[in-house]
Parts: sequence; C-alpha cells; structure tokens
Amino acid sequence: MNVLLTGGAGFIGSHTAVELIEKGHSVVIVDNLVNSKPESVRRVEAITGTKIKLYVDDVADKAALEKIFEENKIDAVIHFAGLKAVGESVKLPVLYYRNNLDTTLTLLETMKKYGCTKLIFSSSATVYGDPEKVPITEDMHVGDCSNPYGKTKYMIEEILKDTCHADSELSVVLLRYFNPIGAHKSGLLVEDPNGIPNNLMPYILKVAMGKMPHLNVFGDDYPTPDGTGVRDYIHVSDLAKGHVAAIEYADANKGIEVFNLGTGNGYSVLDVVKAFEKASGNPLPYKIAPRREGDIAACYASPDKAYNGLKWKAELTIDDMCRDAWEAVKKNPEGYPND
Ligand code: NAD
Ligand code: UD1
Repeated sequence: MNVLLTGGAGFIGSHTAVELIEKGHSVVIVDNLVNSKPESVRRVEAITGTKIKLYVDDVADKAALEKIFEENKIDAVIHFAGLKAVGESVKLPVLYYRNNLDTTLTLLETMKKYGCTKLIFSSSATVYGDPEKVPITEDMHVGDCSNPYGKTKYMIEEILKDTCHADSELSVVLLRYFNPIGAHKSGLLVEDPNGIPNNLMPYILKVAMGKMPHLNVFGDDYPTPDGTGVRDYIHVSDLAKGHVAAIEYADANKGIEVFNLGTGNGYSVLDVVKAFEKASGNPLPYKIAPRREGDIAACYASPDKAYNGLKWKAELTIDDMCRDAWEAVKKNPEGYPND
C-alpha cells in the first residue's frame, strides 16, 4: 500500500516508515517540522535504500494536503502529526486544541474528498487517566485526562468514532501507545526532543551523556514494589511494527477498532535505571525528588487484544530498549544536524 504518514519525520513516524518499507509498502510523509528535522527522513532513506517524498506542510493546511492527495494515490493514512508535550499543553491549551484537532479534521475532510478510507490514529494510554486496575484493557473507562494534550487524544478518538458511525466505508484503527523508548538498531534514528526533556528515557540519556548532573526520580512512595512509578516501556521498533499490523487490519476490516500497543510488563523508574546502567556499563546518578503533579502510580497494558486482533506482539526487552537508545545517542550526541 502507499501510506501517507502525517508527522512522519518524528520519532515514531520515522521508525514506522522503516518498518512499512521493509514490509513492501511505500510511504509519503507530510510534516511541518515543528518538532523534527528533515534529516530523520534522510536517515530512513539510508536505512531502507529508498527515496521518500517529504512534503514540508502543515496538515491543517487544506490546500497543501489536497495537493498531496492530488499528486499521490494514497491508500491509507497514519496520523502521527500532533503536539505532545504534556506540560506545554497545560500552559498553551489553545495551541494544542487548535493543532491536534484541526490537523485531524482537515485530514478527514481531505480523505473523504479523495476516497481514502483507511486511517490509523496515534492515541495514547493517557486516555485511561488513572486506571482503576492494571493491566489496562481497551474496554476500561477513558476520558478523565488531567491535561489538554490527553484531552485532545480523547476528543480525536470521539471524533473518529462519530465519523465511522456516519460512514460505513471507513476503516479506522485507534492505537493507544504506552511508553515508547529505544531506537532503531542501526543507531541512525534518535528521539531528539527540543530543550530539557520531560520524559524518562530522554532525561536518562542527557544524564548519561553528562549534560545533566543527575536524574530526579519523581517519588518513591507510590504503592508499587519499590515505591517508584511503574510504566509499560515498549521498544519503538516493536511499536512501529504494530502500525504495519494495523494497516493490514484496516485493509481487511471496516469500522473502528482500538488496540493497546504495550508489552504487558510494568517496570519501575529504578528498574529502568538499573537496566540502563547495565546497557551503558556506568552508574547513573539519581536523586529521589517529590512526585510530579499529574503522575499515576502504575500503568501497563493488557496486550491480549492486539495479539489476537492484529496478530502482533512486542518482542524486544527493556535491556534491548536501553542498549539501542544508548547506542543511538552515542552516535548522535547532538541529535540530528540542522539543515
Ligand atoms: P514527534 O513530535 O517526534 O512527532 C510528531 C511529528 O508531528 C513531528 O515531526 C512534528 O513536526 C509533526 N507535527 C506536529 N504538528 C504538525 C502539523 N500541524 N502539521 C504537520 N506536522 C506536524 O512525536 P512522536 O513521539 O513521534 O509521537 C507521534 C504521535 O504519537 C503524536 O501524535 C503523539 O501525541 C503520539 N504519542 C506519542 C507518545 C510518546 O511517548 N512518544 C505516546 C503516546 C502517543
Ligand atoms: C508521559 C505523559 C503522558 C504521555 C507520555 C508519552 C505526564 C504526566 N504524562 O507519560 O501523558 O502520553 O508521557 O509522551 O507527563 N520520571 C522520573 N523522572 C523524570 C521523568 C520521568 O522519575 O525525569 C518518571 C515518571 O514519574 C513516571 C516514569 O518516569 O513514573 C515515566 O515518565 P514519562 O517518561 O514522563 O512518561 P509518563 O509519565 O508515563
């Protein structure tokens, strides 16, 4: 299939491009580069030995998006484009609602106009809020999100449900990602966040590279085995393969379906620190700090529905994730070069 990746120059999109191409699909990317660089697309080209069409456009720009659909026969879309920093979304809610909702609406209108019926959407485990139990199954309550970023994901899920309800030709897959980390095994693709990172692995990498003095472990008094927060870390290449499975699922099934993309394993912050120390061979300095507002104790997926429905499961371990993240950062200590 010829798959349009909105936000395809980003962390998950670039890894997904590699996996799609390796499975014989072709990709077109549209990205306004607000949180990425064109170098990531060149790296995908280097890994796969193929040339990729990159459109540097805003997905909310209808004329630009229509031009892409005019110039390419798009069979399916994976909609990664969005802003994703939780703290920033609390400070700039209108920016987040405008960007994440407008891109989705413009995309839906354009897909309709060009008869494209298959859509995969990047949702997040954040839609579960503070879950009443773990592991989290897809039928559990969603919508109590504590921040505008999470609310955009929930709202977009609702928009897509209504759109599918109204149009029986559509095939939509909502993928709720847990915590993607790691990097492609080539070491050519990196997560390259702007400024001081908020998420655990990017912060650990800064500490390991000597750019931050220590990791702050946000709370050690949670009701978890060692008191630190437990999450379902998933290798980004496994996550990317989940998208290939979702594209094939959407090709074979109409209607809307939702799948968790996680491993089913919960690791604490200190488990990740230990795994990272093993991968890097060096101690990682850390200090116990107060809890971070909005954090929950434990969040990990039941991966069963994805296994049964998509015939997909994560294969790589926490050690693989730490090793690949570390190798990629050592090869790209300053992230991607600017153009
Ligand atoms: P990313 O920031 O690396 O990639 C998103 C890409 O979208 C970036 O390249 C950015 O430039 C682009 N973009 C943003 N707004 C755009 C617009 N209006 N028009 C065109 N391009 C635009 O993030 P990622 O980690 O690769 O995440 C991809 C998707 O998955 C996002 O929707 C994110 O919310 C979702 N998600 C990510 C995580 C995670 O932990 N990384 C977890 C759950 C869900
Ligand atoms: C965060 C977001 C979530 C988003 C996800 C992926 C919040 C509250 N939640 O999830 O909405 O979908 O990222 O982008 O921001 N930790 C530390 N020290 C650090 C950083 C993190 O101890 O410097 C801990 C956290 O308390 C948590 C774990 O590490 O227990 C993972 O944190 P993080 O990587 O930020 O992911 P989430 O909080 O799960």
